[in-house]
Amino acid sequence: MTMDSKLVDMTTPLEYGKLQLGNLLTETNAIPIILAFAAVVLPALIYHVGYATDIPHIKGLPEVPGAVPVFGHLLKLGEDHATTCEKWWRQYGHSAFQIKLGNTRAVVVNSFDDCKKMLLGNQNAVIDRPKLYTFHGVISSTQGFTIGSSPWDESCKKKRKAAGTALGRPALRNYYPMFDLESYCIVRDMQKDSQSGEVEIDVRPYIQRYALNTTLTLCYGIRMDAVYDDLLREILQVGSAISLLRSASENLQDYVPILRYLPNNEKTARSKELRDRRDAYLNLLLGKVRDMIAQSTDKPCIAAAILKDEETRLTGVEVSSICLSLVSGGFETIPGTLTSCLGSLSTPEGQAWQDRAYEDIKRHYPDVRDAWTSCFVEEKIPYVNAIVKEAGRYYTVSAMSLPRKTVTEVNWNGAVIPPKTMILINAQAGNHDTDHFGPDAGIFDPERWLKALDPPVESEAVGLGHLSFGTGSRACSGQHIASRLLYAALVRILASYKIVASESSPPNTDYVDYNQFKTALVAIPREFKVKLVPRDAGVAQGVSCAGGEEDSSALQGMSGGEMGWESPAKPDDVRFGSGKYETA
Ligand code: HEM
Repeated sequence: MTMDSKLVDMTTPLEYGKLQLGNLLTETNAIPIILAFAAVVLPALIYHVGYATDIPHIKGLPEVPGAVPVFGHLLKLGEDHATTCEKWWRQYGHSAFQIKLGNTRAVVVNSFDDCKKMLLGNQNAVIDRPKLYTFHGVISSTQGFTIGSSPWDESCKKKRKAAGTALGRPALRNYYPMFDLESYCIVRDMQKDSQSGEVEIDVRPYIQRYALNTTLTLCYGIRMDAVYDDLLREILQVGSAISLLRSASENLQDYVPILRYLPNNEKTARSKELRDRRDAYLNLLLGKVRDMIAQSTDKPCIAAAILKDEETRLTGVEVSSICLSLVSGGFETIPGTLTSCLGSLSTPEGQAWQDRAYEDIKRHYPDVRDAWTSCFVEEKIPYVNAIVKEAGRYYTVSAMSLPRKTVTEVNWNGAVIPPKTMILINAQAGNHDTDHFGPDAGIFDPERWLKALDPPVESEAVGLGHLSFGTGSRACSGQHIASRLLYAALVRILASYKIVASESSPPNTDYVDYNQFKTALVAIPREFKVKLVPRDAGVAQGVSCAGGEEDSSALQGMSGGEMGWESPAKPDDVRFGSGKYETA
């Protein structure tokens, strides 16, 4: 036995390995080996960190040039993804293309026809939604995912079904008193705060309360009467801040994982703070419903129905998730659409649209009181319907819709999009597609939805009107209630006032630039003011009358006590909606 072999016998396997490597290095001069090793492994590593995506390049589908390592197209996309993609569509001549969001490959669809084909022609294949690090991993870790952000699974199916029942057309009749009360409150407070038209006002806060109270009443049987109620403003503020944390342009860390590990990660800290604030008010609301059930004072609402009905088989997290979905589904989309629409109507050009709408209201309801009491029951005034549709199309408040994900292959003109690929629908681009809507697609014009003007007659609805509610298997669950809310508020506001844009603070009516936060998931219109000119003195008087002693006592009677909230109107309480609203 040699010295060497004795030594080897006495070593551990690890030490033996080191020894052998040492020998190899000295005996064979290892530099070429190391170099060869580096030549193979390093490029693979660089490729993996810098260029690899969850889904490999999709053959046969154009890719926008100029992707850079690590970030892909993220930096080129800038803050406003919808507008950049719309530009790329026209620049490169392809409505559907692939891009890289950091390590995630996404297919973007732009033209109206392609968006429709992707969502309707492949309903089952694009039923899923992607999961994102910040929104799903941090913000939603406690209350569950909203329906709009839930991947497609059994729980999502149950939640979508429950929401569909609560928000479907047949259910709307149950909410008439609520529509009545909330739309009345808009006009009541506009009247008060504008001092009967003397002072210019910002209309958005009234519409925010309208949208939020509607869904809070639906979900929890709770409403707030004051436009600047603390809880109301907290819900709106937290919700808007969370919406900012959902978009791709705001969250590079979702697509560039290394950013998550940076020290003092502000995004994660902010997300946790917002999650805690949201948890606090959601738990408060749900707790309030539980208390009301215990005391048998609960109002009919989704939370109470689900909490009391053991048959639904929904978990506590699912109940919270449904309520959260409804509250967050409407509180920014409706104010974004309706505020901007009132902005367009208030312009000098918009005066003619308002006058024609007013004439059409009177044509269908010669006694304006009937319009006032029917606007939440039926949507039959063609000119107002045209304004509702144009507001939805032109102000595409959710410009990139909500992201989808494929569950099975999609054959796109011969290119095979594999399962698990992110699909982005550029609703803003499709809604302003000149090939579909004509050369004036870029201007606001309610009359595009009418086939005759004197008197106004709506064009026959053939299929999908616009893309703002999405379509197909994961289309907006709240679209019927949203249309009714827009219609009812418009009828009451337009029947009461001529809206005139402020000269010192006019609205921005550009379909891209009206939005002050391009990175938010849902647009927030830039602030503007309007002057409200009463249509006739009697209407204004009627509002102040209805909102005076009689109704304020009805509202006080509904006070929700220690929280300062007010519970919703019982049908009998809503006296102004039962024909007692006075006009001249
Ligand atoms: C003008 C008002 C609204 C707009 C523009 C809007 C827009 C959208 C869009 C674009 C989607 C995604 C559709 C898709 O992927 O195809 C969506 C989903 C959804 N919306 Fe709305 N929405 C509005 C109002 C509402 C309201 C009032 C509610 C509830 C009260 C609501 C509840 C939902 C829910 C639950 C989903 C998720 C559907 C799913 O993922 O299965 N929305 N909405």
